[in-house]
Amino acid sequence: MEKRVLGKSGLEVSAIGFGCMGLSHSYGTVTDRGEAIRLIRAAHDRGVTFFDTAEVYGPFTNEDVVGEALQPIRDQVVIATKFGFRNGVIADGPDSRPETIRRAVEGSLKRLRTDTIDLLYQHRVDPDVPVEDVAGTVKDLIAAGKVRHFGMSEAGGESIRKAHAVQPLAALQSEYSLFWREPETEIIPLLEELGIGLVPFSPLGKGFLTGTINEKTTFPTGDFRNATSRFDTENRRANQAIVDLVREIAWNKGTTPAQIALAWLLARRPWIVPIPGARKLAHLEDDLGAVNVRLSRQDLRTIEKRLSSITLRGERYPAVMEALRRALKGRSCVERGWTASPEVTSVLTLWHNLCLTRQDGVSRDPPIASIVGCLPPQPSKSQFPITPAVLIRQRGLSRLGGREVDVLF
Ligand SMILES: NC(=O)c1ccc[n+]([C@@H]2O[C@H](COP(=O)([O-])OP(=O)(O)OC[C@H]3O[C@@H](n4cnc5c(N)ncnc54)[C@H](OP(=O)(O)O)[C@@H]3O)[C@@H](O)[C@H]2O)c1
Repeated sequence: MEKRVLGKSGLEVSAIGFGCMGLSHSYGTVTDRGEAIRLIRAAHDRGVTFFDTAEVYGPFTNEDVVGEALQPIRDQVVIATKFGFRNGVIADGPDSRPETIRRAVEGSLKRLRTDTIDLLYQHRVDPDVPVEDVAGTVKDLIAAGKVRHFGMSEAGGESIRKAHAVQPLAALQSEYSLFWREPETEIIPLLEELGIGLVPFSPLGKGFLTGTINEKTTFPTGDFRNATSRFDTENRRANQAIVDLVREIAWNKGTTPAQIALAWLLARRPWIVPIPGARKLAHLEDDLGAVNVRLSRQDLRTIEKRLSSITLRGERYPAVMEALRRALKGRSCVERGWTASPEVTSVLTLWHNLCLTRQDGVSRDPPIASIVGCLPPQPSKSQFPITPAVLIRQRGLSRLGGREVDVLF
């Protein structure tokens, strides 16, 4: 398979990587270990040399499966993993203290059965730890030979700049697809300026862009898509317009929607390397075929024009979290000198915990009463219904409004 280099790092990887998360995390079911190992090796047989995992996927089990699968071909592949949560558990909240990073790396190295991690990302910016300290810790790990390259995930522009000044980043891993183009405004120009590669996660819009999901599709219990408004029945119906577009282009080019979604990303910049996830070999093979699909300037213009007339509906994360993300996006609390950072963290962690426990297909968002009920002092009933904006105000976070922090999730 064609290779790409992530920014100015010199780190060369297959033009399409393999996102291994879904084999153990996020989609409700866990793939049988033997099957998962076979699939990862099948990806390598088909030219993939870039594999993505994280401490929190499972937690821990995904790294273990990836480690076992890649052990016999370790010298031929690039393994990327991530740290950044307390105890390696998302629900326990962000934790990028230097000692936590060092401990996480030891665990990852063991599970991945390797003595060096090729690309180590901070999974989410920790509002309580200056990003320079994080970058400095990774720099030390690089000097010690335990890590080769540094990356961040879903970080805002200011965090990226500050971290990059301490330890150059090879890549930013953030959501980017035909379905989610937010990085185009600030982040992609910044990456271009600094020479940092972009690794788009959820490049298939969590499956939506493949044209295999419609309003009748049901997701198993524990599937993250049950918890995001983008996948509400009405929004799925409304958003079929983008699937129609991708299908039409695919039809004209004699290819598949998944390949169009990935080829579009590949055409954006030569340093963009998407990492689709797949649990089925047929899906994986379809995705990898995207390297052979060339979108002409005319194709790209048509896509752009048609996209501009489509309004996508729904949030990529549970709506209440996305509302908060919008209100507070961009930088870490510490960098901004916020004194309320523990409060911000606790609110976000709480929302996150509740969102995680509600992935049962019944409720898209944590019940507001539960959120409020857990926040001391308890607001009176008269304060219902409460919106994220109200909650931010009530919790004294309004002074943070308009400023930016990174997504915490
Ligand atoms: N840094 C972060 O915070 C973060 C967040 C999310 C994801 N990620 C990384 O990004 C990777 C991919 O993201 P993702 O899994 O969220 O989303 P994705 O790659 O956009 O979509 C995966 C979904 O698409 C389906 N699919 C794949 N190829 C298909 C095809 N050709 N035809 C029909 N369906 C197809 C898969 O189905 P099957 O599984 O049934 O094959 C799966 O349901 C993850 O594995 C993970 O490594 C990182």
